[in-house]
Amino acid sequence: MNIIDELQEIYKEAEDLISNVKKESQLDDTKNLFIGKKGKLSLISKKMGNLDIEERKQVGQKINEISENLEKLIIIKRDSIKDEELNLLLEREKFDVLQPRKHRESGTLHPITSVQMEVEDIFVSMGFEVMDGPEIETDYNNFEALNFTEDHPARDMQDTFYTDDGNLLRTHTSAIQVRALKILKPPFRIIAPGRVFRYEEIDASHENTFNQVEGMVVGKNISVANLTYTMNQLLSQIFNKETIVRLRPGYFPFVEPGFELDFQCMVCEGKGCSVCKHSGWVELLPCGLIHPNVLKFAGLDPEIWTGFAFGLGLDRLVMMRYGISDIRYFNSGNLRFLKKFL
Ligand code: DAH
Repeated sequence: MNIIDELQEIYKEAEDLISNVKKESQLDDTKNLFIGKKGKLSLISKKMGNLDIEERKQVGQKINEISENLEKLIIIKRDSIKDEELNLLLEREKFDVLQPRKHRESGTLHPITSVQMEVEDIFVSMGFEVMDGPEIETDYNNFEALNFTEDHPARDMQDTFYTDDGNLLRTHTSAIQVRALKILKPPFRIIAPGRVFRYEEIDASHENTFNQVEGMVVGKNISVANLTYTMNQLLSQIFNKETIVRLRPGYFPFVEPGFELDFQCMVCEGKGCSVCKHSGWVELLPCGLIHPNVLKFAGLDPEIWTGFAFGLGLDRLVMMRYGISDIRYFNSGNLRFLKKFL
């Protein structure tokens, strides 16, 4: 076979290969196979030494022509591969903007969160600020500065989890009272919602992780009347009804006097029923006037400054509001329960 025919064969072979290529990378391989330094065309040009001048010229021209044509074919093929890829991508990502979307279940706020937001709104409308604090607290903020000395028996009621470096999971949001006293200048009114933790035997009314809303008002001449008024406002707005509250004595080291605040049962209007265990009253929250020692710890003169504080159990409030019988539902992640609040 003469060289020109040989070249023609090579060209045909290359043309076939190029037309069958599917990927850009294969195109590069094909190019190297024919017009690369060690490609088939270079091998042929090495044979040219044996030819006479006229033939050499012809063969040289043919080689140039073939490699130019092949370059062109490769460029065309490369473009068509890219077009094809783009079309494929467009096909895959195509969607109809007008098609109604498939029904997708949407989430909702947890009942604790939505009632907490309501409580915040009620207090904000009375001029309170909402404060936050960390869930891991110092012993000082959680106990000491609240007048629990190191060996105080009241600590036993609030056993909790301790970290290796001596901090603890806060047992109550009262720790935020200490933080408020440190950073705010009296007079002030704050509430502080948050999660709290205790080492607790769990049952229908006890959890190791629950929620409180702390309240604290510091000012001049603050009295128990201010406290009961504020609580009546909260209750009548949460339950959408006029309420009657009463105070019983209660003990907490950081208030003096300390109280348990009850409200008259709304189901039986004080006559006695199963909801209020036939007493006519439902226990709502502990509260009291701020103990002088707590003010002194914060550098305030208890002869000038006074205040009240309360610790609202948010879980209990939500349970009463919706008639939920078991506190364990809240952290259960049980969808049948949560869907009631959609
Ligand atoms: N921190 C207390 C507890 O969790 C509740 C409490 C009682 C908070 C009296 C107060 C208060 O602010 O005045 O047991």
